[in-house]
Amino acid sequence: MEDSKRPDYVEQFCLNCGFATRALHAGEHVGQLTGTPHTGAIYQTSTFVFASAEEGAEIFAGERPGYIYTRLGNPSVLLLEAKMNALEGRDVKLANPEIRISSQAFSSGMSAIASTLLGLANAGDTLIMGNVLYGATTHLAETVFPRLGIQVVEVDTTDLNALETVLGQNPNAKAVFFETPTNPMLAITDIRALSSMVKSVNPQMKVIVDNTFATPYLQRPLELGADAVIHSTTKYSCGHGTVVGGIMTTLDDAIKEAAYNVIKDVGGNPSPFDAWLVNLGLKTLPVRMERHCDNAMAIARYLQSHPKVDHVYYPGLENNRYHELAKRQMKRFGGMVSFDLTGGLEAGRKLMNSIELFTLAVSLGTVDSLIQHPASMTHACVPKEKREKAGINDGLVRISVGIEDVEDLIQALDDALAKV
Ligand SMILES: Cc1ncc(COP(=O)(O)O)c(C=O)c1O
Repeated sequence: MEDSKRPDYVEQFCLNCGFATRALHAGEHVGQLTGTPHTGAIYQTSTFVFASAEEGAEIFAGERPGYIYTRLGNPSVLLLEAKMNALEGRDVKLANPEIRISSQAFSSGMSAIASTLLGLANAGDTLIMGNVLYGATTHLAETVFPRLGIQVVEVDTTDLNALETVLGQNPNAKAVFFETPTNPMLAITDIRALSSMVKSVNPQMKVIVDNTFATPYLQRPLELGADAVIHSTTKYSCGHGTVVGGIMTTLDDAIKEAAYNVIKDVGGNPSPFDAWLVNLGLKTLPVRMERHCDNAMAIARYLQSHPKVDHVYYPGLENNRYHELAKRQMKRFGGMVSFDLTGGLEAGRKLMNSIELFTLAVSLGTVDSLIQHPASMTHACVPKEKREKAGINDGLVRISVGIEDVEDLIQALDDALAKV
């Protein structure tokens, strides 16, 4: 196969470029020789033509590269995967050119999480999972996995002593999965310390990080010792709220293979159009993230000084318990801010019902600002007792800070808080 047709060609080509350049160029024009579209094409097709019966048989047998059917692979999806390889894995690859980085795109973040973990664990196996996770991930851990005979042990991964105990009790667990920062408490786990602890107990145990809140622009877990990274591309990767999607990127061929084997039989592949939209979104990720971070920092400071706000959860604040760790492992602190109002649930309801500019909706990472109530929305499926233990009180409000003019956002918050 000519070099320019290999899936990792553009990834290699961009290795010496900066993040913004890779976000724009990696993956583009992959597999194209002449008549190349400037913007990657949408291969909106379910199946692909074989030149002959012999060629079809060879492609099916894996003896010749080629596309077969979109559930099994599609050029628009490959473009997205190549770009994510270049964003999450560039420094790892530069440090060790022998390492292979591969991504598998999915139809949703949940499909990415479920397929990756199901690829690794069989009935009778154990998974170690963070104790504060997105609501559906918690539900997956508590209902679906146990039903399939997969035992889930929960642990606060921000507490390395607790993790050490759990690892000691479960040295043959297949993987440790966690979010950092977590949804919605913005708690931070030390990825490097956790990864080295896990590997010292069992080098075969995989470390898998949900990097949705940070994005590869702010944090790259593979550089810190993780084996795989997952994103809900629905969020910052797409950035415009037009797609539900997911992706997993790994240095470990076995993880990629296992996830592919699940998706190819269970489904859960993204549509070519959705992959194309996420690819488009990733081109502006660095610029958007800088603005999200600027605005979130200003809003966190504003909220911190407001008398009706009890507590602000934002790792960028100097008094946040994770501030020093976040400074070490993240480029900046992200666009998500959560806060408790002194007036509790009623005050939160009033705020959400009266605020202008912030759209009352779940999801996050869109260019415009969103506001939501975790206890009754994103984390409603988590039992109340467990929610509260994790700090998700009824009065907690979560905002996804957009890239609007920050003065307008602060004015909107100020006006709404005056009505609380
Ligand atoms: C941290 C995190 N991981 C995973 C998901 C699931 O992603 P999706 O909704 O794309 O399935 C979400 C959704 O909000 C999330 O916030």
